Amino acid sequence: MTDGWRFVLYLHLLSMAFFVGGQLVFGLAVVPLMRGEGDRERLRAVARRFGYGSLAALLVLILTGWAMASHFQLWDSSTLRWKLALVALVIVLALSHLRYPKLHALQGAILLASLVIVWLGLELATGGG
Ligand code: HEM
Repeated sequence: MTDGWRFVLYLHLLSMAFFVGGQLVFGLAVVPLMRGEGDRERLRAVARRFGYGSLAALLVLILTGWAMASHFQLWDSSTLRWKLALVALVIVLALSHLRYPKLHALQGAILLASLVIVWLGLELATGGG
């Protein structure tokens, strides 16, 4: 792999770390500790900032992923197709979450789908299909 493509993969992984790590920190630390009445406004502000960051990370994931899939000729891979289907699902769930912010099951589903996407990414990179 040339340095240029390694850099594209680096950006993909950095965005993956933000996208998945952010959900874990938000769900395990921020929300449980800022649930109180007095914190509601601040929690909402943190959630908004986190949402914009996640959206940016998702855009970078899609752009860099698209570029790598084309360069490494992976569009026929069934693993990539499953991965794309789950990315589409995450986008639908995230939009539903904006519409129904109190439905916590949506956040759990987004995290679960993201973790499966990471697994499929590893399988793609190590040539598992
Ligand atoms: C939430 C979105 C995504 C996450 C969390 C994610 C995560 C990952 C991870 C963890 C890897 C493994 C990299 C390695 O071990 O070296 C990977 C590889 C890869 N991803 Fe993604 N990805 C996402 C979206 C996408 C999208 C939208 C595409 C395509 C349009 C894509 C295409 C690829 C390709 C082609 C590879 C393999 C690169 C190689 O062969 O070295 N990814 N991804």
